[in-house]
Amino acid sequence: MINAKICGNESVLSYLGTIGTVIGRSKYRMSDICEIRLRAGLPVVLETVRGRAVLERRPSPDEISECIKSFCHYSLHSFERELKEGYVTLKGGHRAGFCGSAVIKNGELETIKNISSINIRIAREIKGCAEQLKNIVFSENFRGLLIAGKPMSGKTTVLRDLCRMIGNEHKLAVIDTRSEIAASHEGVSRNDVGIFTDVLDGYGKQEGIEIATRVLSPEYIACDELTGETEYADLCLNSGVKIIFTAHCDAMEQAKKLPVIQTGAVSDIVMLGGRMGQVTERAVI
Ligand SMILES: Nc1ncnc2c1ncn2[C@@H]1O[C@H](COP(=O)(O)OP(=O)(O)OP(=O)(O)O)[C@@H](O)[C@H]1O
Ligand SMILES: [Mg+2]
Repeated sequence: MINAKICGNESVLSYLGTIGTVIGRSKYRMSDICEIRLRAGLPVVLETVRGRAVLERRPSPDEISECIKSFCHYSLHSFERELKEGYVTLKGGHRAGFCGSAVIKNGELETIKNISSINIRIAREIKGCAEQLKNIVFSENFRGLLIAGKPMSGKTTVLRDLCRMIGNEHKLAVIDTRSEIAASHEGVSRNDVGIFTDVLDGYGKQEGIEIATRVLSPEYIACDELTGETEYADLCLNSGVKIIFTAHCDAMEQAKKLPVIQTGAVSDIVMLGGRMGQVTERAVI
């Protein structure tokens, strides 16, 4: 029996003022909602496990900017990096992504102004959803695992549960760049990521992996959304640490071509698809 729980104790709706009240009073249950999409002047949309719901409520531009301020605890300057990167992680590991007008300086994105859309991805602990990967990560010849899939395929949710399983048996370092996996608060993980787990919260991938291999002697390292770079995979390979990470990919063939796969640090790839969080394909490298 799969046990699903919205991460964190605080309701994500409390960030949203009266829009949150409207969602809370609607017939849609928080436990079914995967995304809350707010667009200035347009109806609120909920992506739920049962399909899409369009509400009548339309946030005004002022309400959208009020939400952003509330995500940033009314101190936008403390969230400069997040504003530039286009997301803020809320308590509980929920990811609020947003877009608006780009402010470009010296050819680079400096920040975003006039935010027009917000997408809140609701994080959930689904205990047992990574059971299907247990045999892979605990097998004798295992070196590294790539969990690949499209956006919203359940990669982070599966990774979170896999961390719990591994971290209850082996030393694991989680590089939690966006605080989505462990949802740490004041040094304590709100999500169950295992008792032998060290969480490097907010660290970049490179620095997190370097520090973990240097000082934490992990047997496994996990991180969400490794991209084009290969240095850290090399580092894990050379230090004998098993790496587990996710990447956006449409198809297995595309996943196999990722530069990180060429390093040899990965022994297995799984593609998520079909139903959320379900493995549809597996490749042994
Ligand atoms: N097995 C499942 N059952 C029900 N809901 C699920 C399941 N797996 C994931 N979800 C929900 O689906 C949504 C998307 O999951 P998740 O954030 O893990 O996807 P993702 O592939 O990491 O997306 P992205 O690529 O955008 O980071 C979340 O709200 C999550 O709680
Ligand atoms: Mg994700």
